[in-house]
Amino acid sequence: MNVPLGREHPWVDVTGRGADTLYDLVGPEWFVALVDRFYDGVATNPVLRSLYPDDLEGPRHRLAGFLQQYWGGPAEYSAERGHPRLRMRHEPFRIGEAEREAWLRSMAAALVGGGLTAPAETKVMEYFAGAASHLVNHPS
Ligand code: HEM
Repeated sequence: MNVPLGREHPWVDVTGRGADTLYDLVGPEWFVALVDRFYDGVATNPVLRSLYPDDLEGPRHRLAGFLQQYWGGPAEYSAERGHPRLRMRHEPFRIGEAEREAWLRSMAAALVGGGLTAPAETKVMEYFAGAASHLVNHPS
């Protein structure tokens, strides 16, 4: 995703260095580390754990690839998986308010270790909140 540079531009690191995209600012490994922390949380989360397969390697790879692509990196996710179609891909899982909350809480905890500035962290979290709401398929 390209965000035009401007006063609202959030992609600046703690030293003041700016970049066109989050991916350019933090690089590919940042997403891998974020997703690793996220799935470490999922692994012990009573609401989320049973939704995911026993082996979390595949989910780690897919989510990291998707996020790298979404935030301005190479389109490797789509080369491997095709169009994201996230709503369709989440249809097999029962996602209600509790699951959405648990997912966002786990991601928020993972983001804390990411070292982003507050505006960048807010931007990323707003995106996750919107995307997660879109994926709720069993509203209570
Ligand atoms: C709302 C709560 C959510 C729940 C309970 C949930 C659950 C799941 C589960 C169980 C899988 C299957 C694991 C796998 O095989 O990869 C999955 C896959 C995935 N999820 Fe979510 N998810 C949620 C929100 C999100 C959000 C907000 C995003 C993106 C911002 C996302 C992105 C993905 C991606 C990219 C995949 C892999 C799709 C594929 O290529 O097959 N999910 N999710």
